[in-house]
Amino acid sequence: MVESVRELGKFLSRVVPLDPELRVRQLYGLAPVDLEFAARSTTYMNYGYWEDGCADIDEAGEAMARLLGDAAGITRGDTVLDVGFGHGDQDFLWLRERDPARVLGLNITPSHVASARARAEADGVADRLDFREGSATEVPFPDGMFDRVVALECAFHFRPRTAFLAEAFRVLRPGGTLAVLDVLPVEKDIPQSALRSPYFSWVNTTIDAANWHDGDEYRDRLAVAGYTDISLESIRDRVYQPYRDHMVNRLSDPGFVAELTPEQHEILVKSWSWQQQLDEDLAKLDYVLVVARKPG
Ligand SMILES: C[S@@+](CC[C@H](N)C(=O)[O-])C[C@H]1O[C@@H](n2cnc3c(N)ncnc32)[C@H](O)[C@@H]1O
Repeated sequence: MVESVRELGKFLSRVVPLDPELRVRQLYGLAPVDLEFAARSTTYMNYGYWEDGCADIDEAGEAMARLLGDAAGITRGDTVLDVGFGHGDQDFLWLRERDPARVLGLNITPSHVASARARAEADGVADRLDFREGSATEVPFPDGMFDRVVALECAFHFRPRTAFLAEAFRVLRPGGTLAVLDVLPVEKDIPQSALRSPYFSWVNTTIDAANWHDGDEYRDRLAVAGYTDISLESIRDRVYQPYRDHMVNRLSDPGFVAELTPEQHEILVKSWSWQQQLDEDLAKLDYVLVVARKPG
């Protein structure tokens, strides 16, 4: 998730009375790429998983991808569905490190599909990384086609997440695994509107209200969809605070600042200046690794 997206989310929610899915698509489509990826070597669009000693956003993005790849059990010869793939960095990493037969990606943002496709073609792997435009809630693939279905930091956008859980169940083969990295409130009674810092405006503007529930409810919804062997683990301590520290620190890194326009720098400084509100907001948000299996 990136700052420009948050600012745009706030803006769009006021001026564009759109279908929320269209709003999400416009949001990501409009985000200025140079601000998102300034002074970085990857295009991961997630908070990253900050293991001890990690001080680098690109490494943290890769660690997040590895965590999800491990949880899903992606292995040689698998057919994988990655929904909400961003620019597809995790798919290239899995191809290199895990040798799946094929990864198919679905994303509603045309510019993300175009960039991931262009990279797959440039790398000569378009036969194995197949990125398509489409929604997580209407998966255009046949029943039982996939060994793994994954969603990295995006299922909170889906309208609603339960429709995706049902679609993932349908397209998984019996015995196949669903693995999701997702955002939730830490407790069920926290209203979405309780998050007030500009930095977290995306929570109010782009998380579907039906998806705003706690981990127990998440488990229940997976069970209702037919999944078994359900696990849900909070990894919030290795996500939000280290990401925040990284973002605040890099605002005084000359190499980073040199890649921004003065306006972009101002947006970032503003977005990270609400320290007390950020403390309060962060205490309300969970970040979970969810794994479940289709029986069979
Ligand atoms: C925060 S980004 C995460 C991207 C990527 N997984 C990563 O970690 O780098 C969320 C992604 O979900 C996509 N997305 C949002 N709603 C979607 C939907 N209904 N179906 C498919 N993709 C969706 C967005 O276009 C965006 O690429």
